[in-house]
Amino acid sequence: MKRLQDKVLQEGLVLSDRVLKVDSFLNHQMDPVLMKEIGEEFVKRYDGERITKVLTIESSGIAPGLMTALVLNVPLIFARKQKSLTLRDDIFVEKVYSFTKQETNEVTVSKKFLSPDDRVLIIDDFLANGEAASGLARIVEQAGAAVVGFGIVIEKSFQPGRDHLLAAGYRVESLVRVASLEDGTVTFVDEAQEVPAE
Ligand code: G4P
Repeated sequence: MKRLQDKVLQEGLVLSDRVLKVDSFLNHQMDPVLMKEIGEEFVKRYDGERITKVLTIESSGIAPGLMTALVLNVPLIFARKQKSLTLRDDIFVEKVYSFTKQETNEVTVSKKFLSPDDRVLIIDDFLANGEAASGLARIVEQAGAAVVGFGIVIEKSFQPGRDHLLAAGYRVESLVRVASLEDGTVTFVDEAQEVPAE
C-alpha cells in the first residue's frame, strides 16, 4: 500500500535493526483518514470471504480493526491482555509470549462473542514473531470458528511471524512488508513491484 509506505518513510523512526517506531500515526497518535484507507484495503483483499467478525488485540490493533469492521459492517472484538487469571469458564484464554517485551500475557476473549458459525478476520498493527497472531488464531479455533486470514498493517519480514502463519496454513495480507531496518534505513520487500504508481 503505497500511501502507507510513504508514511513509514516520512514519519517512521528506526530505533534499531529490529524496531520501527511509528507513534505519530499508528501506536500513539493515530491518523484516522489513513486508518480508514487501511480498513478499506483489508476489506478489498478479503472480498467474498463472508467475514462475520473482526478480531484484534488491545491496544494498537483496535484502530485498524475497527475501521475494517466498520467497512464490513460486522462487530470488532479486541482480545484483552492480562497478567494472570484465576480460572474462569466464560472466557477463552491463550498464553502469548512477547520476545520484544520478554513477558508472557494471557490473552482473553469472552465466550459470548465467538461461536462455531463465525468466520473471523484477525487484524494487528505489527507482525514480528507471530506470537500474538498465533494466540488469536488459537482462540478462534477454541471457539470452533474459522480463521479467514490475517490483516497486518506493518509486517517485519525479517522476523519469522509470516512464515510461521503461512506454514500453519493461514492466509496473511500485510499492507507494508519491511525487509530490513539495517543502517537506520527502512527497506521494503519487493520494492520495485510494491511501489508502482497508483
Ligand atoms: P509478536 O506478537 O509478533 O510475536 O511480536 P512481539 O511479541 O515481538 O511484539 C510485542 C509488541 O511489540 C506488540 O505490541 C507488537 O505490536 C509490538 N511490536 C513488535 N515489533 C515492533 C516494532 O518494530 N515497532 C513497534 N512500534 N511495535 C512493535 P503490544 O505490546 O501488543 O503493544 P500495543 O498494541 O499495546 O501498542
